[in-house]
Amino acid sequence: MSFDDLHKASAKALTEAVDSICQEFVVGPEKIEEMTNFFIESMEKGLTQTTHSKDALDMIPTYVTGLPNGTERGVLLAADLGGTNFRVCSVDLNGDHTFVMKQVKSKIPDELLEDDNATPKDLFGYLARRTMVFIKKYHPEVLETAAADQKPLKLGFTFSYPIDQSSLNSGTLIRWTKGFKIADTVGKDVVTLYQDALAEQGLSMIKVVALTNDTTGTFLSHCYTSDNTDSLTSGEISEPIIGCIFGTGTNGCYVEDLKNIKKLDPKVRERFIAEGKTHMVINTEWGSFDNELKVLPTTKYDLDIDQKYSANPGFHLFEKRISGMYLGELLRCCLVDLHSKGLIFSQYRSYDQLPHRLKTPNELDSEVLSHIEIDDSTGLRETELSMLQSLRLPTTLSERKEIQKLVRAISRRAAYLSAVPLAAILIKTDALNKRYHGEVEIGCDGSVVELYPGFRSMLRHALALSPIGAEGERKVHLKIAKDGSGVGAALCALVA
Ligand code: BGC
Repeated sequence: MSFDDLHKASAKALTEAVDSICQEFVVGPEKIEEMTNFFIESMEKGLTQTTHSKDALDMIPTYVTGLPNGTERGVLLAADLGGTNFRVCSVDLNGDHTFVMKQVKSKIPDELLEDDNATPKDLFGYLARRTMVFIKKYHPEVLETAAADQKPLKLGFTFSYPIDQSSLNSGTLIRWTKGFKIADTVGKDVVTLYQDALAEQGLSMIKVVALTNDTTGTFLSHCYTSDNTDSLTSGEISEPIIGCIFGTGTNGCYVEDLKNIKKLDPKVRERFIAEGKTHMVINTEWGSFDNELKVLPTTKYDLDIDQKYSANPGFHLFEKRISGMYLGELLRCCLVDLHSKGLIFSQYRSYDQLPHRLKTPNELDSEVLSHIEIDDSTGLRETELSMLQSLRLPTTLSERKEIQKLVRAISRRAAYLSAVPLAAILIKTDALNKRYHGEVEIGCDGSVVELYPGFRSMLRHALALSPIGAEGERKVHLKIAKDGSGVGAALCALVA
């Protein structure tokens, strides 16, 4: 065989292997329907049971029973612990759907995510110290006023992890997600931990009055900023709209009829009903959909990510197929597999050894995939540079073409799966048939939905393939509620 023939044969073998992987990532309409039905079942189960099990969604009552309409006013503090950053902000709500925000944002230090010995004190001490940095920068007057003259400063705390919420301002951590693993925090009240840490910093004048999830925050912030809340002007919930996050992690919340939330303490429910409340926002924690893998499409790469490379094996399996934290890992696992079969990275000098960067979990950021996804440059130059920069790996043009196919298969599956909870909630709440024309708005936040090229249109395409059909899909408005969690936490603090 000539060198040329050899080259062609290996390119063909790579193409065949990649086509077969891509086929495993395909999600068709029947699968979408099966998952949507199962999602509805899992929601119903989760609304009934007070314990958390792998066969039901967590469906956490948020104690938020009213929605803002954009006329709210006030200056509130908010703190927001997400998967990548911690933000402290003050939010000035102008009462006309607009707000002014001042913030200090910091990247969560690696040792808090990676160190097995990190304690809750380390984490919440860090949050309190960052809060002090914010206060010194933007509200130093607070530190100059004598304690006796201090008015408490209300703070809303967005904590973007599953919490068993017992009231608007208390809740215990059910489990960590998105890489955190500080064991002693599970089962503890995160408001108490943060409040105590603030006191140790000399910030007792700050009162954490509301605890919320980023998905609820996004939803509230969307309601505040949207001027399309004509039917919400009473400030009461009458429209089932969804708030969702597709970023480092994924999750969604929606408005549920109080009488369907069977798990709620009957006394609490009666109290709400006596106060004239009819609905409550539910945080679904849909990242943990189908942890028993009854319907989720599963490749060997999904199993590897969950079992070998994630901090929470067996949990958040839906999130591990969708969110920004895992898209790069999926590509990396596919590439490791192809390399182990001698099919890719032929230009790498020690061909028989696994390149160092490829071996390292989380080395491939989802941002890299977003560049490859839309690379239409001659010779796929952008892809070449991305692979060189992120993994230090040279590639041939035929290899790059196959890498792009893999990227597109991974992102398409993520977007298609993302349509499932939206379709399920729209069906369960009958949102599309409730109003004249039944149009609904969905407030979204997160790097994937906001920035990943084509993600929203692929998601819409899957919505049209779902049981809500093309007609239902046309009634859905996906709106980006950027940085919603800070504003949402402030809105929660306002009503607390
Ligand atoms: C968490 C959710 C959060 C979502 C988006 C998930 O990993 O469990 O509580 O809302 O990430 O940040």
